[in-house]
Amino acid sequence: MTDRYAVLGNPIGHSKSPRIHALFAQQTGQDISYEAILAPTDGFVAALRAFAGSEGGPARGANVTVPFKEEAFRLATRRTPRAEAAGAVNTLSFAADGMIGDNTDGAGLIRDLKHNLGCDPAGRRILLLGAGGAARGVILPLLQENPAELVIANRTEETAARLALEFGRLPGCAIAVKPDGSGFANLAGRSFDLVINATSIGLGGAVLPLPASVFAPRCVAYEMVYGRDTSFLKQAREAGARVADGLGMLVEQAAEAFFVWRGVRPHTAPVLAALKGN
Ligand code: ATR
Repeated sequence: MTDRYAVLGNPIGHSKSPRIHALFAQQTGQDISYEAILAPTDGFVAALRAFAGSEGGPARGANVTVPFKEEAFRLATRRTPRAEAAGAVNTLSFAADGMIGDNTDGAGLIRDLKHNLGCDPAGRRILLLGAGGAARGVILPLLQENPAELVIANRTEETAARLALEFGRLPGCAIAVKPDGSGFANLAGRSFDLVINATSIGLGGAVLPLPASVFAPRCVAYEMVYGRDTSFLKQAREAGARVADGLGMLVEQAAEAFFVWRGVRPHTAPVLAALKGN
């Protein structure tokens, strides 16, 4: 019997996850199927139940994407520490006694930075732009890599400061998140080795009012959105930064979910190359 998996989101039509997991399964010889399911914005739980109850083999788990990650967090009967820290779940594993909620987004970003881009966060000055769900999911994983500092900047200062207070106090965090960098104007004169855009500005035409000084020489600028030449990427390139989009993070978070489900870690390089090919 083929073990079944799915990704649920809205929209979901352009999801690359079925292709990524099919390539992982082929590469590792795992007998799984993986489909994309469009869930109505008010019908996530019903869509998940329908998937779990449908025929064709046992349903073992699901990925969850926008806008259902917080709902999946609430639905999970148990959660991993990294899901708790993120306040969101992107990977559900179906167990006999309930649903385990995990979050592989942060691990995906770290792996992309370290293994694909040669940009180890250790010792670097990091600027994280944004204080929404995407930013929240990567704060703890970034701190665990022991950066020199992690500054969170956001259009709305109070949201950033709240996140900074919450995460700066986590036991085991040697580095405190500094709320003094909140608000883009406060960044004037400051420089960073790694600038990560976790705002959703790339999806519209607006430009973040960042001082050019934030991009230090040899800075890496990382856009979490993939597949678009966003205003942030243009801005960073003009300032001389080396740029990367979130395609690597997408593949790496999928690999981490595959590992959670199957206990096998697929090679991501050939999959990333295949996706870049078309
Ligand atoms: P996501 O789950 O993608 O993180 P979100 O939780 O809605 O989405 O958060 C969106 C983030 O993008 C926020 O940090 C938001 O800033 P505010 O807290 O000030 O709203 C940021 N954002 C969206 N549009 C923006 C814009 N035009 N300029 C600056 N920041 C923007």
